[in-house]
Amino acid sequence: MLPDKAIVTIDGPSGAGKSTISRGLAARLGYTYLDTGAMYRAVGLSLERQGVALDRDEETLARRLAAVELRLAPNEGADVQVFLNGEDVSTAIRTPEMGMVASRVSAHPLVRRTLTELQRRLGAPGRIVAEGRDMGTVVFPGAEFKFYLDAAAEVRARRRCEQLRAQGQPVAYEEILAQIVKRDRDDSARALAPLKPAADAVIIDSSGLDIAGVIGAMMENIARQREGKT
Ligand code: DC
Repeated sequence: MLPDKAIVTIDGPSGAGKSTISRGLAARLGYTYLDTGAMYRAVGLSLERQGVALDRDEETLARRLAAVELRLAPNEGADVQVFLNGEDVSTAIRTPEMGMVASRVSAHPLVRRTLTELQRRLGAPGRIVAEGRDMGTVVFPGAEFKFYLDAAAEVRARRRCEQLRAQGQPVAYEEILAQIVKRDRDDSARALAPLKPAADAVIIDSSGLDIAGVIGAMMENIARQREGKT
């Protein structure tokens, strides 16, 4: 049995399979899946549409951020649906370009502060699987179960290409690999909430594992940790 309000965090670099695995694990546990990358993507889209540069003064940026109303809705077996001020932007935010935009806006202190607060509010009731880059380190440092999902960059690029092509987006492997390597570097090197495993996270390399294998390993780990605590 899991504690009533447990939080599970899954961090890792882009393309490690976090979304599919977090969604699957949440379904197995009967928990809610919190996709924080989708939040950074939607904020990036909104600021881009509003033509707000990140080097604008704090006051303007704060006003524009305050006008961003985000809603995430679970979507059985698929990526969460994301609504930006009522508009369904689920497809618009899931392009490789928006991944790069999200990575850029996510390094901004005000953007991080705003979304960290929102994520903590959404996570407060517990029973969530929170996925991102800083879930176990910054947003939910007290989470009961923490995982860090990794895989070789080439494996992640190949998986990302397959996923995007399945969605009808024509992509070139070399380009996707270059974007993944750049995003890893930028997300890990930034001063605020950089991508890194929490000291108490269980690190899983998914290079040689399929989705069911990773979820199975996580379920086993959760069960083992629970036994150790009882
Ligand atoms: O997981 P994703 O590819 O949808 O995330 C897009 C970008 O958002 C990622 O490159 C960095 C940023 N991000 C972040 O800084 N912190 C998070 N918790 C989630 C995403």
